[in-house]
Amino acid sequence: MSKLAIYGGDPIRKTMLQYGRQSVSVKDIEAVKEVLLSDFLTTGPAVEKFEHALAKFCGTKYAACVSSGTAALHSMYESLELDIGDEVIVPSITFAATANAALYCGAKPVFVDVDRDTLLIDIRAVEENISLKTKIVTGVDYAGQPANYRSLYELENNNEPKFNIFADAAHSLGAKQNNKSSGSLADASSFSFHPVKGITSGEGGAITTDNPKIYKKIKTFRNHGINADYRQREDQATWEYNIGEIGFNYRLSDIHAALGLSQLSDINLNLKKRRKIAQAYDRAIDNLTGVKKVKTLEENDHSYHLYVIKLDLDKFKVGRYEFFQSMRAENIGVNVHYVPLYRHSLYSEFGFTTKDFPNSTYVYERILTLPIWPGMTDDDVNSVIIALNKVVEFYVR
Ligand SMILES: Cc1ncc(COP(=O)(O)O)c(C=O)c1O
Repeated sequence: MSKLAIYGGDPIRKTMLQYGRQSVSVKDIEAVKEVLLSDFLTTGPAVEKFEHALAKFCGTKYAACVSSGTAALHSMYESLELDIGDEVIVPSITFAATANAALYCGAKPVFVDVDRDTLLIDIRAVEENISLKTKIVTGVDYAGQPANYRSLYELENNNEPKFNIFADAAHSLGAKQNNKSSGSLADASSFSFHPVKGITSGEGGAITTDNPKIYKKIKTFRNHGINADYRQREDQATWEYNIGEIGFNYRLSDIHAALGLSQLSDINLNLKKRRKIAQAYDRAIDNLTGVKKVKTLEENDHSYHLYVIKLDLDKFKVGRYEFFQSMRAENIGVNVHYVPLYRHSLYSEFGFTTKDFPNSTYVYERILTLPIWPGMTDDDVNSVIIALNKVVEFYVR
């Protein structure tokens, strides 16, 4: 058995392998350059082009770009004109923005447990938490597989009053459920184009929807609440506009949009690379004691924004903390997605405790994210598998 790097042995890799990374091509750089030399750096044609391409890719009538995934969530929630005290149900294991966007609107985020096998929002937990104040249930497409939207719509159909089903699809651009694309599975879906995501625009985000009312609201909200953007006013040769409601500057610049559009044209190739890496991990894990895969629902085609494993702690002499540190010492940039939201002091006023979320508490102690991004070489992938085997072999009982 070889000595772990954490105890002074040689690490499997000489340099740290990040868990996620952008892949930027020469074509991407040219696309950005073209905008930099054009008349419009913002509110120009590149944003519209990106929006059309996104709507087409997702199979929706509309796409509206904004400056981040968080702005997308905020704009999407705000499009329903939430009142103080309205409730937005979100899974307890997600990035904070899914819940914070509800707080921005004066609404209350209601955390519910996740499914132990898939780490997607637990449908029974949603059902138990629906109240007269529930305005939105947000499915989070954790790691890149869509939440169980069919079950969420069944719940909604059987409920009075009705609520909206939204998707935090930050992880799932390119994923599918029953052959329908992520972005078209809920009343509206929000995306993030942060560098580690399926495509990047540097920072950026978008909302896709078939609902014209939601779309129109978002277009106004992202631009200070102004009812006509700069180019519409130019076309009509007028300086006049009206602000009927408060908005933000959540616009995406044309520089960002050009990068996003160029990246979108390569998404299928990059999805293929992510899926190939995931298959290699799947095969390795099938032969490893004490390591389990996160279950993928049969109806889902996964986009593998993240590859998450679950440790069977009964099989090891140590916990996830030592496992994490040991993998890092081997120069494998493992991560943990995510600290359950109820553990953050920000939300303590809502009175949630770990006992309210038995599944989240259980899986949180066991999950570990392995590196996955399209530019990883075969050697990179093998180094993760070798390090995982080394650490497992060292700590297994
Ligand atoms: C599930 C989820 N929702 C929302 C966001 C927010 O996206 P952004 O970082 O673009 O604001 C992220 C980003 O990490 C995320 O993972």
